[in-house]
Amino acid sequence: VSPRRRRRAALTADLAIEVDGRPVPATSGQSLLGVLVGAGVWTQRRHPVTGRPEAGLCGMGTCQACEVAVGGAGTVRACSTEVTDGMSVRTAAGAGAPS
Ligand code: FES
Repeated sequence: VSPRRRRRAALTADLAIEVDGRPVPATSGQSLLGVLVGAGVWTQRRHPVTGRPEAGLCGMGTCQACEVAVGGAGTVRACSTEVTDGMSVRTAAGAGAPS
């Protein structure tokens, strides 16, 4: 994601979430996957068998490669989850990602 897109996303942000311990701006109505990619988090989980890093592929809830851990909600598919204010997210890019 280009610095220009990051700046534009920050200008429209009306929510704040935390991803792997760092604050990330978000906009109401965005999917969690969109927020993660916009923040440069390209690895959402590790493959449960091979352990290789995976990122969302389908964007419609079928591949499961975008699974992340959300505080209070457990493991969710980021592409099918709307971001909410104060959300706490763990990914494979950080630690404690689902597999
Ligand atoms: S991107 Fe495939 S399930 Fe989310």
